[in-house]
Amino acid sequence: MSEQTVINDMISIERIGDIALICIDNPPVNATGQAVRQGLLTAITDLNAAAQVRAIAIYAAGRTFVAGADIKEFGKPFVDPSLPDVLDAIEASALPVISVLHGTALGGGFELALATHARVGIKGLRIGLPEVNLGLLPGAGGTQRLPRLAGVAFTLDMALSGKMVPGADALAAGAIDQLVEGAPRDVALSAAQQVLDGALKTRPTGSLNVVADAALLEQTADKLRMTQPHLYSPHKIVEAVGAATLPLSQGLQIERQAFMDCMNTPQRAGLIHAFFGERATSNIPEAKGDARPLDRIGVIGGGTMGSGIATACLLAGLPVQMIEVAQDGLDRGMATVARNLEGAVKRGKMTEAARDAALSSLSGSLQMQDLSDVDLVIEAAFESMDVKRQIFTQLDQVCKEGAILASNTSYLNIDEIAACTNRPQDVLGLHFFSPAHVMRLLEIVQGADTAPDVLATGFLLAKRLKKVGVLAQVCDGFVGNRILAFFSKAVGYMVLDGASPAQVDQALEGFGMAMGLHKVFDLAGLDIDWAERKRQAAGRDSSERYSGLHLDRICEQGWFGRKTGKGLYLYDGKHPTPNPDALRIIDDVRAELGIEPKEFTAEEIVDRYLTAMIIEATRVVADGTAKRPVDVDMAYLFGYGFPRFRGGPLHEADQIGASALVERIEGYAKEDPHFWQVPPLLREMASTGKTFADLNH
Ligand code: CAA
Repeated sequence: MSEQTVINDMISIERIGDIALICIDNPPVNATGQAVRQGLLTAITDLNAAAQVRAIAIYAAGRTFVAGADIKEFGKPFVDPSLPDVLDAIEASALPVISVLHGTALGGGFELALATHARVGIKGLRIGLPEVNLGLLPGAGGTQRLPRLAGVAFTLDMALSGKMVPGADALAAGAIDQLVEGAPRDVALSAAQQVLDGALKTRPTGSLNVVADAALLEQTADKLRMTQPHLYSPHKIVEAVGAATLPLSQGLQIERQAFMDCMNTPQRAGLIHAFFGERATSNIPEAKGDARPLDRIGVIGGGTMGSGIATACLLAGLPVQMIEVAQDGLDRGMATVARNLEGAVKRGKMTEAARDAALSSLSGSLQMQDLSDVDLVIEAAFESMDVKRQIFTQLDQVCKEGAILASNTSYLNIDEIAACTNRPQDVLGLHFFSPAHVMRLLEIVQGADTAPDVLATGFLLAKRLKKVGVLAQVCDGFVGNRILAFFSKAVGYMVLDGASPAQVDQALEGFGMAMGLHKVFDLAGLDIDWAERKRQAAGRDSSERYSGLHLDRICEQGWFGRKTGKGLYLYDGKHPTPNPDALRIIDDVRAELGIEPKEFTAEEIVDRYLTAMIIEATRVVADGTAKRPVDVDMAYLFGYGFPRFRGGPLHEADQIGASALVERIEGYAKEDPHFWQVPPLLREMASTGKTFADLNH
């Protein structure tokens, strides 16, 4: 006989004899929002006051135990009770309380388990302290209680990496007490019975002592100062874990203060924007429709992009047919894929058996005819409209009905490509970023006639490849490269006016960019943009100042960057060093143009770079090339190395404020009114007070 008590919509109690089972039911991930916190507190208090209860077990309904605090509540006014207070009450419970964990026990969810008197995991469980990914630290006792159970080293590793640890490892480390099979409610009942029988020992975690490890803490702090100078919360995590040797109440106070410090940083807001943004890009009707089958992929081109795309598909278990025009190109492409997969094995991303299986599902051919049975072809051939026209005309003839024809073009017009076929509804752009098996951005470019199920299949592919699909409309460069082309001009002007490429790169890396822009140019190959500049030369607005003269002159020497050993940098040592010959060319170009070089501070470099980025990003949103500001932000985080802790260019724009940006642009416009123009949308935002975040809804 059992008796049910509903505490609120999310918390209920089931009484079976002298055992009470508390069930948390807050889909989708049982986050500890206010109602869950209040419900748990009430349940624990009531049960301690109730007659005949001798043991309490907490479990969760649905696909997972508690995945942490409700992130949506962060940044809003706080409503009591706090999670630490609820967990203190659980730990202080006179009745033994155990937790039964299934799925993922993360952040505040795992901390809830740490505050109970014993933890039983269900096979398949993974535990984690992912707060660091959100700019936070485990703020509900995790930095204090986990060291008491599993040691300082284990805690630091979990809290600083944010990784998920398999149940078996959690058991071995002492973070959980048992790992069993069964349904959460049944395991909860039998575990509570074991407590009553004395077979499962219980004790408050806070009663245990921590083995101090000052050397490890110091070493970790030193390493973080070198490797993560931009981030705030990792340093605070070390500080908080260091306090675990103090009495629990003192340690908890230090942890709480550190948590609040992190909560008040813009990094926390940026990282949480990134968390939701990553999910938002595919949370649109275009991504949700019925998709077409996606069982076999064709890739045209065995160059860096083609092989990278083929690798990405194989890593996701999708068989690939690669097509090249000549045997040596095909051999190179197949060898690159094999090398990429080998790299995945070395990095522990796949087993040798999985690699062998992937390689056996790759075939190569020189015949377009061999694409007759694929569901999707991704063309990654030379970036020329003539080449694309030829390919798509042939694809139209050989591909089966309903097959999707995609181009990986980074700039060219998808509608023009689609017009070479009799099935423009089956054509779209799938723009990958190099290296395509590593970079997570996939721009999904909608042509004028692209059918809804073709677009939905683009998003399905992104999901299968574990990429972030961002919808883009047709224009020169789509979302990402169009913005890149614009701010690259601002950077070109700064170099012509006196900044050195290395100085610009240093400033941008100081801002948090993964790599300075000139290093990116050298990596991509200076010849790529050179070809693009030549393509655009005829249509260039003669009243616009030309920003690429120094780069053209460097390319004329045959210096294309990393692949030729020389570009804006030299690549003859371990690290790139500024190329003195390129600097001389830049000096000559300045002299030729009659420019008197001036000094730029790092702050000014970043301001101009970022402002130019925001100007074009605003236009991209205003004309609908990107659906929403958040799509631009995610494109930049996942494709262009924009620092995740800044959330993205338009999230950053909100931090600066539209009025301040307008003022800044008007200041720059005094020297170049053609380039520095305030986008009408930004001006409107400055007058209405609307933010880019408002435009996301
Ligand atoms: N709060 C609010 N919403 C959350 C959430 C959370 N902690 N975790 C996930 N969600 C939402 C997602 O936004 C998503 O919503 P939509 O369906 O509307 O897009 C939905 O739950 C499902 O999430 P996923 O799509 O990510 O589902 P998944 O199965 O791929 O992954 C997961 C599940 C592993 C739990 C993953 O969602 C995840 O990693 N969540 C974040 C966990 C986390 O960071 N917890 C720590 C929070 S901070 C904390 O706890 C501080 C503290 O110490 C007090």
